[in-house]
Amino acid sequence: MKNLGVYVHIPFCLSRCAYCDFVSSVLKGDASICTYVEHIQKEIELLAQNGVFKNRVVDTVYFGGGTPSLLKTRYFRSILETLRLNSREEAIEMTFEANPATIDIEQLQELKSMGFNRISLGVQSLNDKTLKAINRRHNAKEALEAIEMAQKAGLSISVDLMVGLPYQTNEDIKTFVDEVLKFDVKHVSVYMLSLEEGTPLKALVDSNKIKVSDDDEKVELFDYASKLLKEKGFVRYEVSNFSKPGFEAKHNFKYWTRDEYIGIGLNAHSLIDEERFYDKATFDEYYKDLDEGRLPHVLEAKLDKDSIKEEYIMLALRTNQGIILKDYFEKFGKDFIEEHKIAVHSHEKELNISQNSISIKEEYLNVLNQIVIDFI
Ligand SMILES: C[S@@+](CC[C@H](N)C(=O)[O-])C[C@H]1O[C@@H](n2cnc3c(N)ncnc32)[C@H](O)[C@@H]1O
Ligand code: SF4
Repeated sequence: MKNLGVYVHIPFCLSRCAYCDFVSSVLKGDASICTYVEHIQKEIELLAQNGVFKNRVVDTVYFGGGTPSLLKTRYFRSILETLRLNSREEAIEMTFEANPATIDIEQLQELKSMGFNRISLGVQSLNDKTLKAINRRHNAKEALEAIEMAQKAGLSISVDLMVGLPYQTNEDIKTFVDEVLKFDVKHVSVYMLSLEEGTPLKALVDSNKIKVSDDDEKVELFDYASKLLKEKGFVRYEVSNFSKPGFEAKHNFKYWTRDEYIGIGLNAHSLIDEERFYDKATFDEYYKDLDEGRLPHVLEAKLDKDSIKEEYIMLALRTNQGIILKDYFEKFGKDFIEEHKIAVHSHEKELNISQNSISIKEEYLNVLNQIVIDFI
């Protein structure tokens, strides 16, 4: 039996944030959610018919978006029921993403009773001027109330912090860390703002109507957040992710260790049997395939040994676990250090090298790409 992560994509939001280009659209009413959920269920059934759940145990479940917390709890229940009917679901971690503007305590308690044990809250900032500028639906006070609710509901809490946003200062980062960590938050994801083509924020920046941090300023804000989090006992276990020891995101960790996961829903990505594929990205195409009894999959790559090795190195070096030398030998029949002598030698200063593993020193994760390139 192999382990399998299940990702369910919920492509709806109440409104669009100014920086975001995720696959998601503004919700027009419950009918569109209902139709979407029926298709998610259909997809799960087709996956089962195609043997995807055979000889696999679902050990993590992740509802991401978009804004999964927009879904009424009965929709979560229907999806989970279908999943449980069609697979061996024994999840040790079940996460849903939530926007602080779209949750209430009854909903969180119900989700907990269904088996969800973790929430990933998009807080982003605790500066009201910043939150307004990026078109978030909540202010700082509401975001903190959301964290408190999640704590009351007994969920393991992760929060997202974005750096490089309009009006953001070091002081804001300090306030964020101080305020958020007054609660029992176990995990913080820190994302540097990426100005995406076609987003309102990019247009505002291009026309000089609003200012965001440049690359150096972003690194400075990130490093400051990192320093503060580490002082509070958090470990940077992946480029953008910090957790209290033992509270690393198990589902997300599969992405970096190349464990198998199946993505369900619009544009959801999968890695199964060394094939990368994703679901069609428009509602029309996605629904059409499912209505005609086909999986809405688009093949991205059938990975050969060389690409698997390349991915393995690139992804493992994002984490503090790094490359486990024994594991590498078992997978590829080569001694990693021997095979990459030149790169290991030239990057000695940036690497933690032990008998068992090689990883990038935390202070060099910001230049990860420049190091990784020499290994692949
Ligand atoms: C799907 S959202 C999280 C849940 C919910 N939709 C919300 O926004 O509250 C995933 C996270 O990605 C991050 N994100 C989205 N767009 C980004 C961008 N352009 N640059 C950096 N981070 C981004 C945000 O921190 C966001 O919370
Ligand atoms: S950041 Fe979250 S709430 Fe905002 S548009 Fe993107 S997915 Fe939707």
